[in-house]
Amino acid sequence: MDHRITVCTSCKHKGSACQPGYELIDRLRKAMVTAGDSIPETFEISGVACMAGCDRPCTVAYHGTRKATYLFGDIDPETDIDDLISFARSYAYLQDGWCSSVDRPGKLRKTTLARVPAAMMVLEETEELAS
Ligand code: FES
Repeated sequence: MDHRITVCTSCKHKGSACQPGYELIDRLRKAMVTAGDSIPETFEISGVACMAGCDRPCTVAYHGTRKATYLFGDIDPETDIDDLISFARSYAYLQDGWCSSVDRPGKLRKTTLARVPAAMMVLEETEELAS
């Protein structure tokens, strides 16, 4: 199963020209290495120019094959790496990726901008072809 974390590299700190997305990616990759086997899936961590959450910088998305997609806003590379790693651990164990806000760590309970179910139509077509 493929797991990915996508970070907006265009988000700016409010009121400044600073774009902290690359710093966030760097810190997240290092923290993922440190977390090691405590996270049972490998996450590819990459950047993207914009995820349409520009009023809530930085934005970070979690994706997984056959899993719900999440978009979080208001993420700060200085303070929120532990919550992002903790959510990666939970997300890796969730069969369909679905969880309620109380199951998300720390700040992520309140900064979820979107939770999108897995694309069932595509999955159903794929399963029909396989049978
Ligand atoms: S600039 Fe980051 S979501 Fe648009």
